[in-house]
Parts: sequence; structure tokens; C-alpha cells
Amino acid sequence: MEEKQLKDFVVIKAVEDGVNVIGLTRGTDTKFHHSEKLDSGEVMIAQFTEHTSAIKIRGNAKIYTPYGEIESETRKGLADK
Ligand code: TRP
Repeated sequence: MEEKQLKDFVVIKAVEDGVNVIGLTRGTDTKFHHSEKLDSGEVMIAQFTEHTSAIKIRGNAKIYTPYGEIESETRKGLADK
């Protein structure tokens, strides 16, 4: 497999229930094409593909990419709702 394809993987680990991993389309239109819901501890391993140019994550999750690690957070005020 090409090195570039291996680098395209991102690992998302949900830190709370109900984390959404949303795939956005490649091309002129940028639209949601897939939404995956993860519960706490669940992991999704995803790639950027011909169809997916961006990934949006809603909720508290740890995201591991070839460029580093980052944690998404739940919006303040929504956490206790
Ligand atoms: N069918 C989608 C694609 O090949 C599946 C997918 C890949 C996806 N990466 C994603 C869906 C990231 C959501 C988020 O592009």
C-alpha cells in the first residue's frame, strides 16, 4: 500500500456516549454523507477517500492522526443536559 494511503488514517476514540463522526463529501459541494455514532470507549478507524475530504467530530473524543493527537470537547453548557 502507498505510504500516502497509510497516512490518511485517523483513529477516533469516544470519551463519552453519543460522539458523532461525520463524513463530508469531496468536490464542489461539501455535504454530510455519513454519520456514525460512537459510545464511550468505542473506536472508529477512518480514512480520507475519493468520497471523503473532511471529517467532523461532535462530542468528546480523542483523535489520533499522523500529524498528532487532539481531543475534541463537548460544548460548554451542553454537557449536563
Ligand atoms: N463510503 C465512505 C468513503 O469511502 C466511508 C468513509 C470513509 C467515511 N471515511 C469516512 C465515513 C469518514 C465517515 C467518516 O469515503
